[in-house]
Amino acid sequence: MSYENIIVRNENNVAVVNLNRPKSLNALNSDMVAELGKAFDELTGDAQVKVIIITGEKNFAAGADITNMVELTPEEAYDFAFSPIYNKIANCPKPVIAAIEGFALGGAMELALCCDLRIATPTAKIGFPEITLGIFPGAGGTQRLPRLIGAAQAKKLIYTGAIIRGEAAYALGLVDTLAENPLKEATTLAEDLAAKPPVALKLAKECINAADDVDLNTGVAFEATNWARLFATSDQKEGMRAFIEKRKPTFVGK
Ligand code: CAA
Repeated sequence: MSYENIIVRNENNVAVVNLNRPKSLNALNSDMVAELGKAFDELTGDAQVKVIIITGEKNFAAGADITNMVELTPEEAYDFAFSPIYNKIANCPKPVIAAIEGFALGGAMELALCCDLRIATPTAKIGFPEITLGIFPGAGGTQRLPRLIGAAQAKKLIYTGAIIRGEAAYALGLVDTLAENPLKEATTLAEDLAAKPPVALKLAKECINAADDVDLNTGVAFEATNWARLFATSDQKEGMRAFIEKRKPTFVGK
């Protein structure tokens, strides 16, 4: 499928989704977000794709497109919100990595928060400047940011609208890896993950995502169920037999 606001390419079981509106620093409009939703449907259903990277050339993105929002009524703003598609990305059954250089602001950083991992340059410019526009992050930011870095640090970023460097975001845990070339680093990691057993990755992600939503006992019980399900996969048999036979496992995704 071809798109107008994103570019999707697949290589070595890794899909790279490039945000592509360079004239407005990749600002996310409704069309781009709708295309992200379609791309994730397609990539989720494509058995050749094991890992997905989201990135943008020079800049990840400077947030939601402000020109699209200025005259919205409350009802229109509710419909404009990106959360249904962002939730789909957060719940994608495959690992998703954000590779960030340049600006990653507002709705763009909220998109990165939906990814499993965030790799950024030390000089990336990261923040939630919505407060300076008279709003606050409305694409999951008030919920995902405190879960990741704690309520106080999340409030500091959201209340001030401060734009911080990638290295400061790393110190907060907002970014988990610093790299001069985030896309290269993300690709190396993605190719490593692509060789791992996909069902185990998928069920591990379900368990870890559930940790945000449920109490500890419920979470541990959910983990036990998902863990036991793995013993119905041939990849579990292959992984353990390969260990015993002192050879490298070959996983088939079943
Ligand atoms: N929406 C629409 N257009 C944007 C944009 C945005 N979020 N960010 C940048 N652009 C456009 C600029 O208007 C400019 O277009 P023109 O050349 O046609 O004038 C072009 O991109 C280049 O931007 P600048 O000239 O401003 O570049 P700069 O280097 O001087 O500044 C910047 C860069 C600091 C990122 C600045 O562009 C900026 O502050 N952008 C807005 C950032 C922001 O507030 N993001 C949050 C949006 S709200 C949101 O995301 C809500 C939500 O929770 C979903």
